[in-house]
Amino acid sequence: MSTPQSIRGMHDLLPAALGRWQKIETTTAHLLARYGYRELRFPVLEKTALFTRTIGTATDIVAKEMYSFADRNGDNLSLRPEGTAGCVRACLQHRLLDRPQRLWYRGPMFRHERPQKGRLRQFHQLGVEIFGLPGPDIDAELLALCARLWQELGLQDALQLEINSLGNQAARQAHRAALLDYLNAHRDQLDADSQRRLTTNPLRILDSKNPQMQDLIAAAPALPDFLDPDSAAHFDQLRTHLDALGIAHRLNPRLVRGLDYYNRTVFEWTTDRLGTQGTLCGGGRYDDLVAQLGGPPTAALGFGLGLERLILLLDQVHGPTAPRPQADLYLVSDQPTAPLILAEKLRTALPHLAIQNHCGGGSFKTQFKKADRSGAQIALILGPDERAADRIGIKHLRALHPQETLPLTELLERLRSLPPLSIMPAAAQPTKGIEP
Ligand code: HAM
Repeated sequence: MSTPQSIRGMHDLLPAALGRWQKIETTTAHLLARYGYRELRFPVLEKTALFTRTIGTATDIVAKEMYSFADRNGDNLSLRPEGTAGCVRACLQHRLLDRPQRLWYRGPMFRHERPQKGRLRQFHQLGVEIFGLPGPDIDAELLALCARLWQELGLQDALQLEINSLGNQAARQAHRAALLDYLNAHRDQLDADSQRRLTTNPLRILDSKNPQMQDLIAAAPALPDFLDPDSAAHFDQLRTHLDALGIAHRLNPRLVRGLDYYNRTVFEWTTDRLGTQGTLCGGGRYDDLVAQLGGPPTAALGFGLGLERLILLLDQVHGPTAPRPQADLYLVSDQPTAPLILAEKLRTALPHLAIQNHCGGGSFKTQFKKADRSGAQIALILGPDERAADRIGIKHLRALHPQETLPLTELLERLRSLPPLSIMPAAAQPTKGIEP
């Protein structure tokens, strides 16, 4: 019988790869806490209607990428394709929006896209959502948070920021009408996909990568020409703040994003080092969404960061991570009970170290081989001689120190000064931050 396989586009994350994931998880959690954000967790399954009402029926995500099904009660449910909808739903349900909120979440999202490098069917996002803050200062702070994250991860030279403003609803409608007139007048120059979008989602035609349509797109009515004065002022102030913070950015009047809920500021952090899937992080304002879902009018903004793409970029820029040791100390013995007891004593006395008891018997030769393969610095030996003398052998596996036998108290003294373990999740390192 053939071995069972995971679903296409849904990957297992094996221990050897998880070092980088865990580093990102600790770095981001620490950084977000420093900016005053709190974590929120919500289910991966929601009612399908939540996504159609928020992301929009005409978007690619809702039209063709959701994993949707009727459950045993006949309720229409979908695996979340993104986190904003569920986050807003949770905030409304638990009445969190009576004051400003800075929230984050992390977890798997599901989209039935064609899998390729950096594009999966189950992928992971770190999402950040802010509620109740309408001014451009928070837009700037959100982008400063991103910039600091890239710096902490050593990616500041690999990512570029593109921004645009979509304006308010009236501005977007005026732009849409002008765009439709223009595109209809040039219908014969549109490819099949864009002709289909003409009736469903014309704004997305501006995102087309088809080289034959680039001149047409370049000459199309551009959003900035339709901006309402308030949105234009908001955008100007945001750009002033970004300049003051020293955050380089490029104005991209064609940036529209693939979800319907946005207004005003939209942005993407992109890289040219990952081929076609170069957007690492995208987001913007969605000031109308909370009210649209029946909540109080609430300014809102946020971003989603694709963690698989972030890992690909880190691998590209910094090379693969070195294999991590499984333990600091590896305990070998000819007898099963005594090492179990000793290992527990050591774990109590030395909580900063990882201690692996061999388990499973075998000759000392085999056990030492395994100790070496574990990556541990030190093997502790509990053989018949050591037990008789009430001592423990200590053998350095990666340094030239003579082998010794020590009583437990002395051994603990020695091991206490061993530096904290490399395999324990490392706390985020302080960094320089962005220059004012
Ligand atoms: P999004 O642009 O659809 O926005 O996704 C955000 C990020 O998720 C992308 O930039 C990309 O890195 C990653 N991503 C998306 N699809 C895939 C995929 N199939 N495979 C791998 N990575 C992927 C949102 O989801 C919005 N909820 C962001 C947001 C939050 N806007 C405001 N608040």
